[in-house]
Formats: sequence, structure tokens, C-alpha cells
Amino acid sequence: MNRLKNKVAVVTGGNSGIGFGIAESFKNEGAVGTITGRNETTLKISADALNNEFIGIKGDVNNLDDLENVFKKTAEKFGKIDVLVVNAGGVVDGVPLDSIENVTEESYDQYMDLNLKSAYFTVQKSLPYLNDGASIILIGSSAAHRAAPGMAIYGAAKAAIVFLAKGLSLDLLPRKIRVNTLSPGSIDTPVFGKLVPEEQLELVKQMWSDITPIGRQGLPSEIGNAAVFLASDESSFIVGTEILADGGLTNISLMK
Ligand SMILES: NC(=O)c1ccc[n+]([C@@H]2O[C@H](COP(=O)([O-])OP(=O)(O)OC[C@H]3O[C@@H](n4cnc5c(N)ncnc54)[C@H](OP(=O)(O)O)[C@@H]3O)[C@@H](O)[C@H]2O)c1
Repeated sequence: MNRLKNKVAVVTGGNSGIGFGIAESFKNEGAVGTITGRNETTLKISADALNNEFIGIKGDVNNLDDLENVFKKTAEKFGKIDVLVVNAGGVVDGVPLDSIENVTEESYDQYMDLNLKSAYFTVQKSLPYLNDGASIILIGSSAAHRAAPGMAIYGAAKAAIVFLAKGLSLDLLPRKIRVNTLSPGSIDTPVFGKLVPEEQLELVKQMWSDITPIGRQGLPSEIGNAAVFLASDESSFIVGTEILADGGLTNISLMK
């Protein structure tokens, strides 16, 4: 119940899916802090659901001034920050994941900006407000390791995230800030509604359950549990690495 007592956390994209699951797990372990997102309505609903132990601050992770504002306001309210979860990302609104024939320079940039560049600058903008000894958790993906149709750019961006945890851990060693990647497999979140029409939703989720060795999609709370470990002092010797929370998707083949 108190593994994160007295910790202040920022979870980007905490108003939906995995980010909300992480914020909820953090709250259940005694943390307070900030969730971010662009949608003010879901930010408010999510903050209320977290008993307002987490406040909502509106911000676009592609906008460096917005990022600065998130950390400045969090530090003003709570003091220094102990945990940063770089979670916002995934699907670009209105831009389908697609195979190379259909990708434009613009859609390439939009995916790379959301899933790689924004993560780098989220970390950079947090640094003046992070405590020495803080834990930074980058949300990666099993897509960094296992190709799937239409997901080459997304997977490449997430593979780069896995490396960022190593490079940034090195940069931040003097401050004893640990950076690790937490890579989910297929998790049941609203993201699938952004990818396929309503009538195909259950079919697509079932397809992911079928190819996941454990036989189902994961829950946001299961990513939350792993994030609690990485955020807490229990993971004090874990630096610059990746934890896969994917029901076996990356490492086990279901050969019949
Ligand atoms: N679900 C999965 O199966 C899965 C698997 C592996 C990895 N992941 C990763 O897990 C993370 C969360 O995914 P999810 O499944 O929870 O997706 P989701 O339910 O679609 O949530 C995405 C979150 O990111 C925020 N966001 C998106 N664009 C943003 C922007 N430009 N600025 C600020 N916030 C932005 C959204 O808030 P607003 O719309 O309010 O801005 C929302 O809170 C992503 O990094 C994704 O790549 C997901």
C-alpha cells in the first residue's frame, strides 16, 4: 500500500489506457502528482477517479513550452519530482498506421515526433525539476522487437526508446537518475478504437489475444504493477534496461 509513499510522479498521457492504469497503481501505493493529456474532459474525469491525488495539467507532448509548463506547475504544487513516466504516444489522431507504400513524409514525421522526439524532450524538460535519484520510466512496446503489419515506423520509434533508456541513463549517472523502458505487449486500452472501426474492435482484440502466449490481452493495471516496481526503490539496481510486460508475446512462439 505504501511502496511509493511521499513520492511525486508525473505520468504523461495519464488520462487514458496504460497511463491512467499506471497513475492509479501509483496512487494506490501512496504517490501523488500530475497526469497530462490534451483532452481536458478526460483529464478531469481521470483526476476525479484518482481522488484528485493526481492533478490534471493540459499539454501537448509535441510542444516544448507545454512540457516545461507541466513540470513547472507540478514542482510549484508538490515540490521536486521523484518519478517521470513518459507514456503519451501510440497512434497519431486521424493518421492510420500503414505500410511503406502509403506513408508520406508528413505521416512519418508525425509518428516519429509523437513516439520518439516527444519522449526525448519530455525527459529534457523534466530535468530541472527532478530530484537526484529519480526514476524515469519510458513506455516502449513489444513492437520494438516483433514486426507487425503497418507498424514499421512505430516499432522503429519504440526500438529507439529502448536505446534512449541506455543513453540517457549514462547522461544522468552523475545525478543517480535511473532510466528504464517498460514495454507492454497488447494491452486492452482505447487505442484500438483509434485503429479500427467499432464493428472490427472485438475481432482485432481477439486476434491479439490469440497470438499472445498467455492467451489474453493485458490490463493497464498489470503495466501499472510493473511501473510501481520501476518507480520504487525496490528497483534501485536496475538501470538502463528494459522490462517486457507482454504475456510472452516477444519471446515465445505459439507453434502448433
Ligand atoms: N495498448 C497497447 O497495446 C500498447 C502496447 C505497447 C505500447 N503501448 C504504448 O503505451 C502508451 C499508451 O498507450 P495506450 O494504449 O494507453 O493508448 P491510449 O489509450 O490511446 O492513450 C494515449 C495517451 O497519450 C496521450 N497523447 C496522445 N498524443 C498526445 C500528444 N500529442 N500530447 C499529449 N498527450 C498525448 C493521450 O491523451 P490526449 O488524447 O488527451 O492527448 C492519451 O492519454 C503509448 O506510448 C503506446 O505506444 C500501448
